[in-house]
Amino acid sequence: MNTSSAAKARSRAIKPKAGFCKQALVANRKTYEKLYRQSLEKPEKFWGDASREITWFKPWKKLLSWKPPFAEWFVGGKLNVSFNCLDRHVASPRRHKAALIWEGEPGERVTLTYAQLHREVCKFANVLKSQGIKSGDRVAIYMPMIPEAVIAMLACARIGAPHTVIFGGFSAESVKDRINDCGAKIVVTADGGYRRGQVVRLKESVDAALPGTSTVTRVIVVRRAGLDMSLGDRDVWYHEAMAAASDQCEAASLDSEHPLFILYTSGSTGKPKGILHTTAGYFLGALLSTKYVFDLKDEDLYWCTADIGWVTGHTYVVYGVLGLGGTSLIYEGAPNHPEPDRFWKIVEEHKVNIFYTAPTAIRAFMKWGDDWVKKHDLSSLRLLGSVGEPINPEAWMWYYRTVGQERCPVVDTWWQTETGGHMVTTLPGAVPMKPGSAGLPFFGVDLAVVDESGAEVPPDTGGRLVIRRPWPSMLRSIYGDATRYRKQYWSDVKGCYFTGDGARRDRDGYFWITGRIDDVLNVAGHRLGTAEVESALVSHPAVAEAAVVGKADEIKGQAVFAFVTVKQGITPTTELNEELRRHVGKEIGAIAKPDVIRFAEVLPKTRSGKIMRRLLREIAAGGEVKGDVTTLEDFNALASLRQQEE
Ligand code: PRX
Repeated sequence: MNTSSAAKARSRAIKPKAGFCKQALVANRKTYEKLYRQSLEKPEKFWGDASREITWFKPWKKLLSWKPPFAEWFVGGKLNVSFNCLDRHVASPRRHKAALIWEGEPGERVTLTYAQLHREVCKFANVLKSQGIKSGDRVAIYMPMIPEAVIAMLACARIGAPHTVIFGGFSAESVKDRINDCGAKIVVTADGGYRRGQVVRLKESVDAALPGTSTVTRVIVVRRAGLDMSLGDRDVWYHEAMAAASDQCEAASLDSEHPLFILYTSGSTGKPKGILHTTAGYFLGALLSTKYVFDLKDEDLYWCTADIGWVTGHTYVVYGVLGLGGTSLIYEGAPNHPEPDRFWKIVEEHKVNIFYTAPTAIRAFMKWGDDWVKKHDLSSLRLLGSVGEPINPEAWMWYYRTVGQERCPVVDTWWQTETGGHMVTTLPGAVPMKPGSAGLPFFGVDLAVVDESGAEVPPDTGGRLVIRRPWPSMLRSIYGDATRYRKQYWSDVKGCYFTGDGARRDRDGYFWITGRIDDVLNVAGHRLGTAEVESALVSHPAVAEAAVVGKADEIKGQAVFAFVTVKQGITPTTELNEELRRHVGKEIGAIAKPDVIRFAEVLPKTRSGKIMRRLLREIAAGGEVKGDVTTLEDFNALASLRQQEE
């Protein structure tokens, strides 16, 4: 699409098709406004009604206790998320309905009905108990996208042991840091998982991580890839432990605020932080958004392509869908293995109805060409979703036309690990869609765009995106660091949660997210702190200083661009450049490897010693990067020029 048609798309609002509107849960904007207003003005009534989606062991007494910035929702209630995702469906006509449909990258398929999944979860909960895990103990899950990963999550939830899922692409160093931060007692992993035809050897990374930890007493290993390996004293095979376990395990009655999981995510400073989510509020947010935003019906086959290592995988692969008794499709591998039509082949063969993916994937499909899509019958699709990063109107239109054949509404969903569930979206069938805008606030979300002083800016003016009151699925804290929680989220704009994102709101009330305005990058939909990559670089013996900035990238949204100065006596070479990239991969994971490393004599700094990132961003964007990556950049002159200007 050329620039002028993209501009047209940006200003155009696309009405949902009449066929979809007829059955939409929210029929029009008026109904949306009414519900939205009620959610803010009469929260007791709105959330009181909504909370009937949950089966409670004991009803809650008070909706909210708010001692800023600490919230407790549904105070006094008792429930169990695993019970809500399994037992209540097993006791219903959904008993033999598919809960999970799994496809491995090499092509194997497994279906687990609700009754079967319930049985596996009970057994694994008993395995965890037999290994000494009690309510409140943390369990790390480092797995490929296989059913056992979901079984492990639900087993943890069943006995009240908060899980921390670590994305399988993270390195041993990252596994170690996360285990240490939360003090995990058990690690559940697999020998390996498949990705683009290769086996990713997860157990090896766990073995490399454990010597740097002191809390892990047991490693439970799923045999996925059939790798030849011998287990150590601390290790047990998953299948052996499961063979001996009873399939009866009562779900623990847990407080509304019992911790459900800790999920690590990057911030603008230092190491990733453990975002803490609790039971009732998070789960209700997951249920309500899955119901309204995906319009999930009993007969749907729903597929969210996210890995369970990210929050999207938690809320929209596992908890939301299973909580509602839906069928969740899980695929283990890469979208282009063995060929670039793997996703479309899955959609066609399984007859997927609802499909949720990230703009990076959409842009990659666009690049691979329409023929790969057109080869397949995608007529089963009825709704498409997008998440993780701003979607450019060109990609939106391609998704709408080529994949959705102008029949399926596209729901762009803005949210964060911290928000637990969708915050801004275009409710399908209810309101027109604007390509490139995430849409309107979800129920209970009091959003605003403000300036530096905290005052709301007029329509069509850029500013900081904030949330002005607590919401049920909000993070409760940063694990073990309440001070950082307050400082990170609640100190920029008085009385508000600051998202870290920039946005503007148009005259129709639609939000247009422009991206992070802190030192966090969004690389292929993955959050990455520049400070994290910098500290990985300086941990290499050859590096003196490093500064990392983002550079616009056609497919990934942003690419990682690093400026590095080397220690005295070290010669910056192409080999060192490659070694540093590998080093970052080892320290964090492949997603953090800089796309470009530029060696510099010095880094440009202000008189007070702050790195002039704006200047570096300009240089990174400047197109001078194609030449020899080992070029020494002398920023002295540039920096002093800048200082005179400023
Ligand atoms: O910058 C926003 C971007 O992703 C950030 C949250 O990242 P994470 O916690 O990893 O969660 C990703 C999945 C929810 C946000 O601060 N982001 C996420 N969704 C969108 C988005 N930016 C624009 N449009 C979206 N739909």
